[in-house]
Amino acid sequence: MYIPEEKVSEILNASDIVDVISESVILKKSGRNFFGLCPFHSEKTPSFSVNAGKQIFHCFGCSAGGNVLSYVMKYHGTTFPEAAKMMARKYNITIETKEIDPAIKRQLHLKENLFRLNKIVMGTYFDELKNSKTGEIARQYLNDRGILDNTIELFRLGFSPDNWDTIVKVLKERKISKNIAVQSGLILERKQNNGYYDRFRNRIMFPIFDINMQVAGFGGRVMDDAMPKYMNSPETPVYNKSRILYGLHASKQFCRQEGLVYIVEGYFDFLSLYQHGIKNTVASLGTALTADHVRILKGYAPRMVLVFDSDTAGINAAKRSVKIFMNEGVDTRILVLPQGNDPDSYVVKHGQKAFNELALNAKTMMQFLLQVSIDAHGLSVEGRIRILEDMKKQLILIQDSALRSLYVKELAETLNIDEKAVLEKVREQYLSHPEKKSFLSEGKKQDAKLESDRREEQMISLMLNYPEIIDEIKDKEVLDYFYSEKLKCLARKILSMDPKKEAFITNVMAGMENTEDQELIASYAMDDFFSEQDIHQTALSIIHRIIRVRKKQENTLTTKIISAEKGCDSDLMDLLKQKQAEIQQLHDQL
Ligand code: GTP
Ligand code: MN
Repeated sequence: MYIPEEKVSEILNASDIVDVISESVILKKSGRNFFGLCPFHSEKTPSFSVNAGKQIFHCFGCSAGGNVLSYVMKYHGTTFPEAAKMMARKYNITIETKEIDPAIKRQLHLKENLFRLNKIVMGTYFDELKNSKTGEIARQYLNDRGILDNTIELFRLGFSPDNWDTIVKVLKERKISKNIAVQSGLILERKQNNGYYDRFRNRIMFPIFDINMQVAGFGGRVMDDAMPKYMNSPETPVYNKSRILYGLHASKQFCRQEGLVYIVEGYFDFLSLYQHGIKNTVASLGTALTADHVRILKGYAPRMVLVFDSDTAGINAAKRSVKIFMNEGVDTRILVLPQGNDPDSYVVKHGQKAFNELALNAKTMMQFLLQVSIDAHGLSVEGRIRILEDMKKQLILIQDSALRSLYVKELAETLNIDEKAVLEKVREQYLSHPEKKSFLSEGKKQDAKLESDRREEQMISLMLNYPEIIDEIKDKEVLDYFYSEKLKCLARKILSMDPKKEAFITNVMAGMENTEDQELIASYAMDDFFSEQDIHQTALSIIHRIIRVRKKQENTLTTKIISAEKGCDSDLMDLLKQKQAEIQQLHDQL
């Protein structure tokens, strides 16, 4: 571990898991826990729970779980030390990073340097736009497109002058390493090794912020018809295109407020809507939306509206996105704008109110796909068959069975085809795509657990929630009687912790080396259905049962083996020994 244990404890004690998770998941209190939609798997009904008292989270759906640091690691995709640092920063705790592993340290430094450089360059571009003489053309361009000064300030828009070395010079002045700048994508190396040149020239510049308001990258637009119209920073250690959404750093609070987020494609679409008071918006920047994008957005709003141009490219982009949203089980509508409009031009022409009204009539994904298919094939007999072929592929993607049957009904009515025939088609589709069938058999997955495991798990739950019984457990040496090696190992680790320490559960969790163990601990800690009055009684009875069952089973087998030995029944003896071994093996595996 690179961060001293006392520091980790300090961070854990200072942080509030509900507070931290609330930044990315909408939580509602229900009983002892808070519930929300799990950011780690697709779901429609909340099974993600957070317990403030225990400072842990656990998802009953996908079994993700852990303490605040495990959450930050999993959610932001960081290493443990990075997560600890983030929380330390949030709660004003200083950590000395001297002992950090050199490789991790280098990566951290690289990221910090990239952010620092991007921030400096953002300042340069901003300054060029606001104050330079050559910036006049860019100021005029933005003005012509209706972008207000306010918006320029807020989103730190800029201008990259028509030179090859604006940024190259900045690097020299600021003594920033070329290596870092090349990695940032802001400069490129000339062929034949004779120096460097700027990537962005003569463009309007859009800094792309991450959720923590750090500059992750840039986009740049030409001011005429030159190609390419837009140019973006390449992927870098700080710019992950499949996770960043343009504008979210500024719009997240509004997405929360409205419970709804508009997803548009372009920088100007975003800025225009924002300026017109439609602030619950993000832009996908022309890249295909990913499951990560959707999961991130789910943390801010349960409903999403995809806004697309009505041209072919727009329709195709919408069709591609549908699958992602369907898989994530999000309430998503699709708003296809009237011919010849994009969100920017529409809101400039018609204003906020008209846009909001239009959005109220946004189609569900199925309605949208159906419309696209009808437009393509028409409603002739042949056309309807083709439409059914199109739609069955979409229908099997719907996870929610009630929703699916509603759509089947709707489709049957629209096409004037018998509902049963539609269902039959959908079923055929399932059968020919076995990989999509998993959710059909979901219910059967919950295998009956071994009784012994259940008891051993209860024991662990008790230990975690009532550390005062730990002495008793040590005393009775009950762990020796555990069948499951895995649970025994976990329980041993718990026993090795100091039960008198505050925040026992979080500390136990911090002591676990891998996420799997952390997740188990979280689920057992949540599984607290004991009544506090007679904890000792409960503990004793579980302890006794564990010991008794194990002894009894062994006794029976051993007795049989002994008598088989006596009776020289070697076949039976082998059989019994084999059985004994099998039982052990079975438990070890589980
Ligand atoms: P304006 O013409 O300035 O209004 O842009 P727009 O946002 O309406 O452009 P468009 O609908 O053509 O593209 C939507 C988004 O896709 C843009 O904001 C860019 O992020 C991205 N994009 C468009 N053209 C290009 C391109 O040539 N290269 C790259 N890398 N991205 C592009
Ligand atoms: Mn546009």
